[in-house]
Amino acid sequence: MKVVSTIEEVRACVKTWRKEGKSIGFVPTMGYLHEGHGSLIQKARENNDKVVVSIFVNPMQFGPTEDLASYPRDLEKDSAFCASLGADLIFHPEPEEMYQEGFCSYVDMDVLTKELCGLSRPVHFRGVCTVVSKLFHIVMPDRAYFGQKDAQQLAIIRRMIKDLNMDLEIVGCPIIREADGLAKSSRNTYLSQEERKAALCLSRSIRLGQSLVEQGETNAQKVLEAMKVEIQKEPLAKIDYIKCVNGLTMQQVETIKAPILVAMAVYIGKTRLIDNFIVE
Ligand code: PAF
Repeated sequence: MKVVSTIEEVRACVKTWRKEGKSIGFVPTMGYLHEGHGSLIQKARENNDKVVVSIFVNPMQFGPTEDLASYPRDLEKDSAFCASLGADLIFHPEPEEMYQEGFCSYVDMDVLTKELCGLSRPVHFRGVCTVVSKLFHIVMPDRAYFGQKDAQQLAIIRRMIKDLNMDLEIVGCPIIREADGLAKSSRNTYLSQEERKAALCLSRSIRLGQSLVEQGETNAQKVLEAMKVEIQKEPLAKIDYIKCVNGLTMQQVETIKAPILVAMAVYIGKTRLIDNFIVE
């Protein structure tokens, strides 16, 4: 496995592979990889001849008061992890490589980006769409792999490739959880021991919502209310949002009728965690 930091080096590898007729699977990440990322790399490994993983903490998708500086980083550990899963190439650029002097072109999206996480993170999805488009142009993959934990991001990327006629397949992969239910996230490392326990209120609330829907409850307000009560039992938790939206448009719905996304963002202390379930 090769680790490269320039766009030119990635393009050279991709060019050789394309000449050889190889298919390319791509897993974009911000590093500090965990089993959630691992499941994406494994899926890419199964379905493609070559697997590229990008590790780039994208400054453009962080707001001015967010955790860009403290976002966890460990390239050595990430490289070993990717190698163990059979990745062929890691692209690990510096911000200056991705955003050269004078950079002023962006990919932005209406509607879908204005809901859920977009309300409390107004610049986030413009940063995600811009960097993901750039990465797609650099890696030119046949397939790209994203986790369902970032359900809004996945819906936005699917919309973006449709709207902008990008010629690749987006593969969504299920949420990977710790044994006790907490959705895996690089941000879980911010949690103290006490907060780590408190954070289980998210997955408890998700399970409760899921079981109400499975029992036939179709009133979104009733499901959301029960889920909120579950979170509010935890003194360290502060709800940013819990919403029931159409899984494609991200617009709020009153009745639970597939495709539905029930998504939440909750602060545990200073750490903002997200979780969700889908009704297909
Ligand atoms: O999901 C992430 O880790 C990031 O938003 C992504 C897709 C790598 C873009 O920076």
